[in-house]
Amino acid sequence: MSSARPDGDRGIEVQRLRRLFRFFAATQCRGRSPVYETLSEGVADDDGLLDLLMSTPDEQRRPSLLFAAVNLLLASDAGSALADYYPIHGGRRPVDGRLVPTFAAFCARHRDELGRLLYSRSTQTNEIRRCVALRLGLAHVYRRWPGPLALTEVGASAGLNLLLDRYRYRVGDQETSSAAASPVTIACEVRGSVRTGQIFGPILEITHRLGIDRHPVNLADPGARAWLEAFVWPEQTGDLAVLRGAIDLAVSTADATVVPGDATTDTARLIGELPGREPVVVFTASLLSYLTADARAAFAAQLRQAAEHRPVAWVFAEAPGLVAATDPWLAGPAGPVAQRNSLFLVGAGLLGDGRREDALLALADPYLRWIAPARDETDDFQWLPASTDAD
Ligand SMILES: C[S@@+](CC[C@H](N)C(=O)[O-])C[C@H]1O[C@@H](n2cnc3c(N)ncnc32)[C@H](O)[C@@H]1O
Repeated sequence: MSSARPDGDRGIEVQRLRRLFRFFAATQCRGRSPVYETLSEGVADDDGLLDLLMSTPDEQRRPSLLFAAVNLLLASDAGSALADYYPIHGGRRPVDGRLVPTFAAFCARHRDELGRLLYSRSTQTNEIRRCVALRLGLAHVYRRWPGPLALTEVGASAGLNLLLDRYRYRVGDQETSSAAASPVTIACEVRGSVRTGQIFGPILEITHRLGIDRHPVNLADPGARAWLEAFVWPEQTGDLAVLRGAIDLAVSTADATVVPGDATTDTARLIGELPGREPVVVFTASLLSYLTADARAAFAAQLRQAAEHRPVAWVFAEAPGLVAATDPWLAGPAGPVAQRNSLFLVGAGLLGDGRREDALLALADPYLRWIAPARDETDDFQWLPASTDAD
């Protein structure tokens, strides 16, 4: 399991991990999870915990993976002292000076199981609030191509975003819903001066729903469900309830299929196998950060290849810098917005009839807790205070 490295390399890697955990604390956890913020800073300062990570493959050394692995083990060890800090496991203890030592002791006690999980598992989240970004993108696509659309998500995880019209929405001051009776409600704050009613239209007919993922989540497998739920953060009891509701809905409707496939090699073929001639919307959310620069270029080439046969719209919710670096031929933000990598850019690139049209539609929190729709097609979002990047 361990990767042998010369001491110098090891020291450099340990320093990188310290920075990574501190960055994670500051940009992802602050204001969102006091437990993970404290733990991220604690891991950065704890040689024993860093040593645990150093015994896993390089690409597995991710804060979210470590915390999910611990969370999974906690779900079946809810009587442990660490669970007292996790509201999702019934804990009520506020963060204090014992949290990090308690976490370190839990990791030491479960070192072998954690090592196995960190070695073999990959990040698996399915954040259905990102359906808000998808709806914004669809509204834009409908304005150009009114009528039925086929929907594909690449990096679809369990495929829960493909069921976007089965949820209720509370976005800004409006209930926008095509499924009033849905047991699942998605809530998202709207920032800026654009009214929700101006950005969302109805969801028209979706002819096919296809998810593509390197490691699809099989919701019929209780272990796979538990792993997906392990990515919910300690304080997010509401998110856990929403996720469980969406999973139950997906299992009972069985409307969306997620097939195994790689974004960089299988996208064009799988789109090509969809029946019909209607345009295909290809949604990605938090996919690009899993791809190298070459892989991002290969994915963009797959989209262009698919668009040779029928119109394709790439709707994305991704870090602006990664979108900009994916392929200059597709929607690349320029100027200040491209620097705001702790936020997500929501946009659409339409490819069809030999033409291309790109639009930047919004900036948003990566988990779509809030969205700031563009005021017009040239908006550079300078009006959105820089302090929002880390909130
Ligand atoms: C962070 S999750 C996001 C899932 C979903 N898009 C969402 O927003 O909730 C990233 C997903 O991308 C998948 N993935 C990563 N690299 C991939 C690749 N090269 N091809 C296809 N899927 C990939 C992962 O398996 C994972 O399910």
